Amino acid sequence: MKSDSYDGTMHKPVRKAVIPAAGFGTRFLPFSKSVPKEMLPIVDRPVIQFIVAEAVAAGMDDILIVTSRHKKVMEDHFDRFPELEMALEQKGKTAELDEIIELTRMANIHFVRQGEALGLGHAIGMAETHVGDQPFVVLLGDDIMHERAGVLDGMVDAYNQHGSSVVALMEVDPDEISSYGCAAAEPTDNDRLHRVTGLVEKPAAAEAPSNLAVMGRYLFTPTIFDEIRSTGPGVGGEIQITDAMVSLLDREPLFGYSFTEGRFDTGKKEDYLRAVVELTLERDDVGPAFRDILADVCRREGLL
Ligand code: G1P
Repeated sequence: MKSDSYDGTMHKPVRKAVIPAAGFGTRFLPFSKSVPKEMLPIVDRPVIQFIVAEAVAAGMDDILIVTSRHKKVMEDHFDRFPELEMALEQKGKTAELDEIIELTRMANIHFVRQGEALGLGHAIGMAETHVGDQPFVVLLGDDIMHERAGVLDGMVDAYNQHGSSVVALMEVDPDEISSYGCAAAEPTDNDRLHRVTGLVEKPAAAEAPSNLAVMGRYLFTPTIFDEIRSTGPGVGGEIQITDAMVSLLDREPLFGYSFTEGRFDTGKKEDYLRAVVELTLERDDVGPAFRDILADVCRREGLL
């Protein structure tokens, strides 16, 4: 689909997604010492598979995962496995066979390695050659967004309407804002859409311009790559995407798409457990049995 952008030029459809997944995952040690935190399971599917599925559901057909040297298992997860496929076929396990083949056909999935942990902005910058002059979405590998929240769809709609970059925002308690990028924003005539006027990475509560936190979804025009290239180290000595977005504000409008629920930050233990419980309860196969187990445990613990 093409439509008029804010500057009157025609803009391109959004088909590419970048998933930064190169971090150490220190909050999940010792598990994450040998297994990437993106491979944490929700029953039998790793978190990264939910992220890829979300991108595909929003119309992306080309996905670049930014990894690092101890994360090869993610590549194997989305690759064909002929010996296993043959074994499943011989045993007549067609449902399992279909599922593992389907996994490799979700999208064109590519990988690039971030050789040094220089920050989220740097990781996104690794996608420049692959993305080229296309608009693209970024999905942080930690955050599962429930499809009922419709975050990426809403952001793509906003881009199709305005032709400029969009970032997902959610209101958080003031004492939590120091864990996030924080946006100063003005309302627009669309309740969900704000016009971002400023951004600060992980401000102290007293210095935060608002309680609107940047959540793990971004939609960028390729102009962001110019800004990443000229962004030096910021908070924590890392090249921050938030700082590159501050420079972007001088060149293009930036919109904030606000949503209120349906996010699981699987990089946090408590949120990961909530994701496991809620997403398992929704499943047709193991959901009903899991409901009984939960009820049983709750009764025993005096919670019901
Ligand atoms: C990153 C971003 C931050 C954003 C957050 C969302 O921080 O730098 O602006 O609010 O993701 O989860 P991190 O969680 O990697 O420290």
